[in-house]
Amino acid sequence: MPHTIPLVNLQAQYHRLKSDIDKAVIEVMESAAYIQGSQVKNFENNLAQFLNVKHVISCANGTDALQLAFMALNLPEGSEVITPSFSYAALAEVIYLLKLKPIFVDINESTFLIDENLIEHAITPNTKAIAPVHLFGQVANMEVILEIAKRYNLYVIEDNAQAIGAEYCSPSVSGFGGTLGHIGTTSFFPSKNLGCFGDGGAVFTNDDDLAMKIRMIANHGQGEKYKHQVIGINSRLDTMQAAILGVKLPHLKSFTMARQAAAHSYNQSFESVDWFHVPQKEMNSTHVFNQYTLRLKSKEDRDSLKEFLNKNGIPSMIYYPIPLHKQQAYFQNVSLPISEKMCDRVLSLPICPELSIENQEYIINTILQFYKNK
Ligand SMILES: Cc1ncc(COP(=O)(O)O)c(C=O)c1O
Repeated sequence: MPHTIPLVNLQAQYHRLKSDIDKAVIEVMESAAYIQGSQVKNFENNLAQFLNVKHVISCANGTDALQLAFMALNLPEGSEVITPSFSYAALAEVIYLLKLKPIFVDINESTFLIDENLIEHAITPNTKAIAPVHLFGQVANMEVILEIAKRYNLYVIEDNAQAIGAEYCSPSVSGFGGTLGHIGTTSFFPSKNLGCFGDGGAVFTNDDDLAMKIRMIANHGQGEKYKHQVIGINSRLDTMQAAILGVKLPHLKSFTMARQAAAHSYNQSFESVDWFHVPQKEMNSTHVFNQYTLRLKSKEDRDSLKEFLNKNGIPSMIYYPIPLHKQQAYFQNVSLPISEKMCDRVLSLPICPELSIENQEYIINTILQFYKNK
């Protein structure tokens, strides 16, 4: 049977919202206010209200959002930033670009999130910030991270690109991922939980002073037009993307619920399977499942399941195949055994709000059949 299942069904999402999106895009074209049109400010305000954060500064992509955050902090050259090695490259890239130094730490094997118990050991007199990544859709242990940061007087920058809408609630910390530290960032890359039709990103903060700096840096360092106060960059969310995001934002809650329902079906169907582990929850966070990532028992198991799925028309992805400390560009001679092991064992299955029940049943049955025949 010629099944071809998309990893993320962006076309189906467009078709669901087509009339509103088409109208919003045409409005932008009719106005010709392609840069800094009113839709940009509207979207920033609506997202700030949704996340209950004081400032949202939109920008060109999630990597720029991280760059803007670190540029605003203006840390001395060589300052150390504690961050997980099992992650996407953007944070390490920005840290090195700004002549800072990432101090990679290991992750928790069950949640894939930075292991909060290792953070304090990594602190030196040069440490200036902790940058957790809310990987795959859930918020890292911010209760502990914020407590350590306070004790050592460190900044906390949350990379929330994969967890927009995830909520954290512990005895002393509560709120949306990305709004709990000094600065949070996100990406609107099309496959993200809130994705635009190109590149986009945003920075979040409750700090008025940082917000002002970030906004200035994102606009060539200008406070007023043609008055360049600091060295900046050009990083803007264009009006077309803001208009599309403005249509999608009111649906974010229902997108999240659909992802959670799909994850629940996977979990239930794999309950009695002991060949792999399903994703485990971080105790105080909701999970918005940007990824549904299995943890296999060996590289051979992972690679053979991936190949079997592929033969049956089911895409799967390895997020991530190489830990950052082993990448040529960011190489550090350190040993982070869990991160290294996970790169050999993880496999992410298709998940998105538009994953049909029929397609999900086919994926589940194919996986169960693979193990029956093993
Ligand atoms: C965790 C994480 N951080 C940062 C980024 C960078 O976002 P962008 O691709 O919009 O630059 C991504 C994008 O994949 C990501 O997953």
